[in-house]
Amino acid sequence: MTEDTRLPDLEPLWMPFTANRQFKRSPLLFQSAEGMYFTTTDGRRILDGIAGLWCVNAGHCHPRIVAAVQAQAATLDYATAFNLGHPAAFELAGRLTALAPAGLDYAFFVNSGSEAVDTALKMALAYHRARGEAQRIRFIGRERGYHGVGFGGISVGGIVSNRRVFAGAMLPGVDHLPHTHDLARNAFSRGLPAHGAGLADALERIVALHDPSTIAAVIVEPVAGSAGVLPPPRGYLERLRALCDRYGLLLIFDEVITGFGRTGTAFGAETFGVTPDLLTVAKGLTSGMVPMGAVLVDRRIYDGVMTGPEQVIEFAHGYTYSGHPLACAAGLAALDVYRDEGLFERAAALAPAFEAALHSLKGLPHVIDIRNVGLMGAVELEPRPGAPTARAMDVFRHCFDQGVLVRITGETVALTPPLVISEGQVGQLVEAIGRALRAVA
Ligand SMILES: Cc1ncc(COP(=O)(O)O)c(C=O)c1O
Repeated sequence: MTEDTRLPDLEPLWMPFTANRQFKRSPLLFQSAEGMYFTTTDGRRILDGIAGLWCVNAGHCHPRIVAAVQAQAATLDYATAFNLGHPAAFELAGRLTALAPAGLDYAFFVNSGSEAVDTALKMALAYHRARGEAQRIRFIGRERGYHGVGFGGISVGGIVSNRRVFAGAMLPGVDHLPHTHDLARNAFSRGLPAHGAGLADALERIVALHDPSTIAAVIVEPVAGSAGVLPPPRGYLERLRALCDRYGLLLIFDEVITGFGRTGTAFGAETFGVTPDLLTVAKGLTSGMVPMGAVLVDRRIYDGVMTGPEQVIEFAHGYTYSGHPLACAAGLAALDVYRDEGLFERAAALAPAFEAALHSLKGLPHVIDIRNVGLMGAVELEPRPGAPTARAMDVFRHCFDQGVLVRITGETVALTPPLVISEGQVGQLVEAIGRALRAVA
C-alpha cells in the first residue's frame, strides 16, 4: 500500500503477531503521531480508532507526558528496583492504589501486560503456599481469554491460535470456563448483554471435578478484549466473585485493556462493581508512552506473603526494569492528564454517542453482531466461506485507505479510540467502517 522507497530494509525484523511475508510485500509504517492522528511514512494522516493498540488513552504524544519523560531521561536514567529504588516508583504505587478499588493497596511493577499476568499467577501461588495451602496450584482461565504471551498467560488464555504451537509446554492443571459469547441470545446488545450470567456457574463443575482445595485462582478479563470485545453478561462477574469466595479461590481481573478509563471509570472493577483480589494493568498506565505494567494486590495477599525472617526476600520475583524511572515518569504524568482533563468522565459521557454511532451499522452487509461498553466497541462479521478473517481484513484495508485505523481480531472489527476523541471523530470512524462494509460486500 505504500510506494515509499526511502524505507529501510524490512527483511531483518521478525514482526510480532504479523503475517510477516504479506506485510513486507505491502508495508504500512507510521512516522509520527499527535493527538488523534498518526502520520504514515508516505505522508498520510490516519485517524486512530484503537488508541495505538488499546493503550494511548490520553492521545498521541501528549505534551505533558512527553515533557515528563524527557525530563526524567535527563535526570535519572535507570535505578535498580532490587534492594534500592527511586521516589517516583513509590509515588506511582501510591497514586495507582489510591485510584484502585478499596483493598487493592499494593502495586508491583512490571513491563507489560504479559508480565503482569504471570506475576499475578505467581503471587496467587505464593500467597496460598504462605498460608499453608501449597497444594493450590491450579488456575482457571476462560475460553477466548487473552492474557498475553508468557507461558502462564497462554496457559490460562483461551485463544486457540495462540496456544496450538505451544500445547506441550503449558502450565499443568489449568482448566477453562466457557466463554460468554452468545450470538443467538445476545446479538446487538447495547452495553452488558442480558443473557449468560449462569455461565459463571460452570466454575461449580470445575471445582467439583478438581476439588477446590487444588485451585489457586480464577483469571478473566472483565470485558474480553482481544477475542473481539465481549462485555460480561449482567450478573456474571458478581457470580464469579461469589463462587471464588465460597471456595477460597483468588479472583484475578486482567484489566490490561479495561483499565484507565476504557469502560468509563478508572477500572472495569469499578464500572461493574466487582472487586478482584488481584488486578493486572499495563497499556493505558503510561498511555502507551513507555512500556509498563503493574499488578494491584489486595492487602491480605501482600500481608500473607510478608512472612519469614525480615532479611529474606519474601517473593522471589521481579524484573530488571520493574518501576523503570522513565515508565514511572510517564505513568505519573498520564495519571495527571487523566485527572486534570477528566478523561475517564469524558469516556463515560461519550459512551452513549459511541454506542449509537456503532449500532447505526446494524443492517449493513454481513454484520452479525455489534457490541459495546464504555469506549470499547466491536462489529462482528459473517466469515467469508472458505476464507476465515478475510472479510474483516478487507474492511481494515478499506478503512486504512480512507485514513482510519481500526483493529481486526478474527471476524471482528474493534474500536477502542483514545479517550480524547471527539463525537465528530467517532462519526468519522463509524462512517469509514460503513463505507468499507459496503465496498467489501
Ligand atoms: C487482557 C490482556 N492481558 C494481557 C495482555 C498482554 O499485554 P502485553 O502485550 O503488554 O504483554 C493484553 C494485550 O493486549 C491484554 O489485552
